[in-house]
Amino acid sequence: MTGTGQVIHLQGGRCSVVLDARATGLPVVVYWGPALGETDPGALEALCEAATPPVPHSAPDSPGWLSLLPQHSEGYAGLPGLEGHRGEGGAWAFRFEPTELAMPEGSTLVVDAADADAGLALRSELSISEAGMLRMRHVLRNDGRTPYAVQALRCCLPLPAHASELLDLTGRWCLERQPQRHPLVQGSWRRDSRRGRTGHDATLGLLAGTPGFGFRHGQVWAAHVAWSGNHQTFAERLPDGTGMLGGGELILPGEIRLAPGEEYAAPWLCAAYSSDGIDGISAVFHDWLRARDGHPRSPRPVVLNTWEAVYFDHDLDRLRALADEAARIGVERFVLDDGWFRGRRDDTAGLGDWFVDETTWPQGLHPLVEHVTGLGMQFGLWVEPEMVNPDSDLYRAHPDWVLAASGRLPPSWRHQQVLDLANPDAFGYVLERLDALLDEYAIAFLKWDHNRDLVDAGHDGRPGVHAQTLATYRLLDELRRRHPGLEIESCASGGARVDLGILERTDRVWASDSNDALDRQAIQRWTGVFLPPELIGAHVGPPRSHTTGRVHDSSFRAATALFGHAGIEWDITGADESELADLSGWIEFYKRHRGLLHTGRLVHADHPDPAALVHGVVASDGTEALFAYVQLASGSTQVPGPLRLPGLVPGTAYRVRAVHPGGQPRAVQRAAPPWMSGEDLLLSGRMLAHAGLRVPVLAPEQALLLHLVGGPSSAM
Ligand code: DGJ
Repeated sequence: MTGTGQVIHLQGGRCSVVLDARATGLPVVVYWGPALGETDPGALEALCEAATPPVPHSAPDSPGWLSLLPQHSEGYAGLPGLEGHRGEGGAWAFRFEPTELAMPEGSTLVVDAADADAGLALRSELSISEAGMLRMRHVLRNDGRTPYAVQALRCCLPLPAHASELLDLTGRWCLERQPQRHPLVQGSWRRDSRRGRTGHDATLGLLAGTPGFGFRHGQVWAAHVAWSGNHQTFAERLPDGTGMLGGGELILPGEIRLAPGEEYAAPWLCAAYSSDGIDGISAVFHDWLRARDGHPRSPRPVVLNTWEAVYFDHDLDRLRALADEAARIGVERFVLDDGWFRGRRDDTAGLGDWFVDETTWPQGLHPLVEHVTGLGMQFGLWVEPEMVNPDSDLYRAHPDWVLAASGRLPPSWRHQQVLDLANPDAFGYVLERLDALLDEYAIAFLKWDHNRDLVDAGHDGRPGVHAQTLATYRLLDELRRRHPGLEIESCASGGARVDLGILERTDRVWASDSNDALDRQAIQRWTGVFLPPELIGAHVGPPRSHTTGRVHDSSFRAATALFGHAGIEWDITGADESELADLSGWIEFYKRHRGLLHTGRLVHADHPDPAALVHGVVASDGTEALFAYVQLASGSTQVPGPLRLPGLVPGTAYRVRAVHPGGQPRAVQRAAPPWMSGEDLLLSGRMLAHAGLRVPVLAPEQALLLHLVGGPSSAM
């Protein structure tokens, strides 16, 4: 950071932000882009001058800047930073003047501002991490004598004219985070999520970049809203050329009503800049996540989750046999999924009754937990604490504990409703139940599910999503406080709650209910743009996928689940010896390489053939790497073009070896490339990046894994 007191330069990683605070009004964001290096005050002032836009005809008489909180009172006609009012439409217009500008740490700027006439005070925080993660948020306080209704409080950052293409993600159950691209033309592109949870279709981030930007090339600016409730992410280009990228909570009508003295803290906007394509954005997000105190650092244990193995058929002997088989092949964490609590024989009843079912489990979960831990595995348990089935003792006793608009229940969804956790009694009940279970059993891990959207979700006659999101965060925080070391997975019908808000208090996400390896390749690829592999649950399912019916070889399923926090979702008591041998070989390989997979740099090639994907993880010191060449469909050429591997150290010599944990991929060719049957290849990172190497003609839905070990180039 270089601060002049008037022009402020925040710099972190390969990114700079410059704010001009010399004039009256809120500081304006003059620049967000590549790092500017050391700058003296004179140079910063010159930058502000150079960046000052001309004043055109038929426009406000002063230059159109984007301030920290764009306001109509500045002449700004785009999406404003704050929308709100008091009473019959008062204080809807405001002009904030800074009262204090502080830099408590070199990389953090805090601006306090107020509009005394409107009775509003604003605190804006902007900080940049060593990795280059730019975090921004606003906190609004009502200093007036009457309530103030907040409709929107958004964070906005400027986009240059050459950021003219957008990439965002959409999706659905079993196919989360699918990319879509289009030009950023005049107008706004808004991704709104009104699902009350993050959403299967939510964009995990919005990326703007130079035309055609790829994983390894192009300038890219990206933003993510760290919030698990309703939210919006947007990009806008105004007719005067102003560009903007931002986001915030999507506040329902009347939802945030500040009493005098009360404040509203908007969620953090996490933003990053990259000069080297999407992989550069991933590097910033991954480094930032990995630097957090709470980031999981112990080796990510191999999981077996019982859902697709037994569904609701909870039978102690069957589960013990499954655990025996799991332990035999090297599983380290056994997770009992849905179906263990009172009245839960299918998905129509029981949610809310968080007592072990006495009929199915006459001795409680003890025999299973002891069996699992006796085998040396951790025990994990599924819960869905925010939900209730109308067919439950809890609902029969407290029908008023449901989030509902007055006088009617929201539409039923998977036969369930949402518990109003902003109701202290409901909150206290759920906390006590979970706490008691965690006290009674040796539970190392909770799979925390959330299987419906929040629609028509009222609390005390007002929309209840905001309060519910905060209450869920409180519940998670309190349980973690009471049970240090407990790990939690964020699951929501698969990957409908994946965001940095929930990840502040959970240890991984369940990326999707689809274990179909082909669909998983895309789901994990795009989830991985923002989340490092160790936070993404990825399991090997049975040969025929339960959700798509597609059949995949074990090698493809194994190669796909390897690039995440790996596990199994399969009744392996029915697997044959060769399948079990493949699985245990794969587990052994995962254990040997998870150190690399979970700390290295995730890289993707911009491969020319759309029928194939190339991704890998390169150790942070460049000494080792693991790559996957994935044949999604039949290639358009008879033999695939050379496989070029990005992200290696140019001058390092790498010994390249094809590895086959989980079995050999199927190829359709008369002869494999000669290197595959000869001595290990020794090639420099530069050669691998530019000349590449030939790969077999893989059949569709196959993957080839390459392990690279680097040494000094003199070894060549
Ligand atoms: C949805 C989850 O995504 C599944 O993995 C499973 O836990 C079911 N819920 C259980 O009801």
